[in-house]
Amino acid sequence: LTLSNLAAYLQALGLPGSIPAFPAADPIHNPNDIYRSYIAAALESILDCDRGLIYEALQRTTTPSKGDLVLVLPRLRLKNVKPKELGAELASKFPALPFISPPVPVDSFLQFFYAPKILPQVILPFIRDRTGSYGKRGPTEPRKKAIVEFSSPNIAKEFHAGHLRSTIIGAFIANLYESMGWEVTRINYLGDWGKQFGLLAVGWEKYGSEELLEAQPLKHLLDVYVKINAEFRPEEAASKQARDEGRDTAEIESKGLFAERNAFFQRMENGDPDALALWQRFRDISIERYIDIYARLGIHFDVYAGESQVNPATVLEVEAALKEKGVYTEDKGSWVIDFEQHGFKGLGTAVVRGRTGTTTYLLRDVAAILDRARQYEFDEMIYVVSSEQDSYFQRVFKTVQLMGRADIAAKLKHVNFGKVMGMSTRFGKVELLSDILDKCGSAMHDVMRTNAVKYVQVEDPDAVADTVGITAVMVQDMSGKRINNYPFDIGRMTSFEGDTGPYLQYCHARLSSIARKAKAAGIDPAESEIDYARLQDDHSAGLLRTMGEFPDIVGLAFRTLEPTTILTYLFRLAHQLSSSYDVLQVVGASEGHAASVARAALYDTARQVLRNGLRLLGIKPVERM
Ligand code: ARG
Repeated sequence: LTLSNLAAYLQALGLPGSIPAFPAADPIHNPNDIYRSYIAAALESILDCDRGLIYEALQRTTTPSKGDLVLVLPRLRLKNVKPKELGAELASKFPALPFISPPVPVDSFLQFFYAPKILPQVILPFIRDRTGSYGKRGPTEPRKKAIVEFSSPNIAKEFHAGHLRSTIIGAFIANLYESMGWEVTRINYLGDWGKQFGLLAVGWEKYGSEELLEAQPLKHLLDVYVKINAEFRPEEAASKQARDEGRDTAEIESKGLFAERNAFFQRMENGDPDALALWQRFRDISIERYIDIYARLGIHFDVYAGESQVNPATVLEVEAALKEKGVYTEDKGSWVIDFEQHGFKGLGTAVVRGRTGTTTYLLRDVAAILDRARQYEFDEMIYVVSSEQDSYFQRVFKTVQLMGRADIAAKLKHVNFGKVMGMSTRFGKVELLSDILDKCGSAMHDVMRTNAVKYVQVEDPDAVADTVGITAVMVQDMSGKRINNYPFDIGRMTSFEGDTGPYLQYCHARLSSIARKAKAAGIDPAESEIDYARLQDDHSAGLLRTMGEFPDIVGLAFRTLEPTTILTYLFRLAHQLSSSYDVLQVVGASEGHAASVARAALYDTARQVLRNGLRLLGIKPVERM
């Protein structure tokens, strides 16, 4: 896959010379960039304008009837020209190119349509050569490094919808950066430190059972925590009330579970070996289970970090820097940053080190940033966390800035998302990630059973139901913009109708079945010459145009960091396929064997694109269902 191979191939199709070079073009990975390069070069010969600007002004369209590419004339930033007149002038002067129709001026655009005659020869071999890497770019030069931190549940606490969304969206963003040629480190930042761990230890002494811990570690730790937390709640409420009334809370917090909890956490922070040994056991046992459960989703983490793993020396370094910059002040025994005072309106004041001398969530996060900056030298670090923590992350990033590390602060990004409404009301009690996955699988299985004829043909219905059930939840989650809240609707998401996960999986399974049946009938595009002239009809051309867009769509998603950008595209492809099956038959096509082979190649390539899109989203495509 070299540029000169590609150029030689295109030359044989009648395209002029070598591919014109533009810095923003990546013709090796993006077929639309081949078209862009030739069109931009042709425009350059008839237009007095910076060539880079011309290239950038060639944009994709959202409606095929408006062209495959349009030149957005105002973007050329030419003085004293009327876009409309310029469009007409360019259209009349534009040199004939074999692979595009003569351009059409419309308002302030010049529309370009790919000629159906050469389209199949450009697009099909391009994708068939690249297979699984179609849609990906080569490694960035120099290699850029990203850390994507996602999922990050709290040990001994419920795995809630916020963690589920972080897991789904985070896995996608990590894949996306990799597709764009970045080196990605996936980090799970466990909630494995803090006072709640002190409370869990107190609960363990009262309610812990070695057998139950062995059998179902995550569930048992959660049960213990829930029990002790219920006992603790009245004390917590009393303390809150005192605080609200402006009374001192020290008295309340000096006895009962409050005192026990704080004492245990204090021992952890002081490095007491017994306290740490218990904590380490809970942590190890939990991670062991997490690894398996994430594997069900096809997700692995490079690092199980966590609040506990922050280097104490770095914590002190952060505080020293904050003091030196004069932004760290003492307030009744705790250390705070008054963000308002430092020009950050609306961020209030944050406690950075608590009155009892323990570190806070914020302080640990800031120190972790410094540790990671040194260890990984990242170019970007992305936190995939619910929008409930919007202002929290603003505080974290501002703190990094205030301590004099604006260079690092500039590399930090919070990718947020909205809420899922009523997951447990509509879905029954879910507490662990495995509960959620089990319920999706069984809901999907119920839907599959309603079609008895199909159901008996599925080889391993449990496995298929598990995969398609997970797809259903993921697709529902990624359908809207991240920031939107959405209702958890098990009926809708498991339906085969509408833009759902099962619909996309069905589309993939159908294409797989077409390939199997074709092969059985002696139609094998891998073994025979493909007659591209058989793919010049409207349906074929429509599919090829859409397939050729995929790398552009991945690039667009990289800018928006919205999974819906990919998903919307895949649904468009799936709908186009659905309306083609009757028109473009493979087995028994009345147009003869050559047409059958060409169409089999077309569908096979569409399946590859669908597959690559699903994989990017973190979905495992099924062959049969
Ligand atoms: N464990 C936290 C929670 O469940 C999420 C952690 C987000 N990441 C971070 N670096 N603070 O709310």
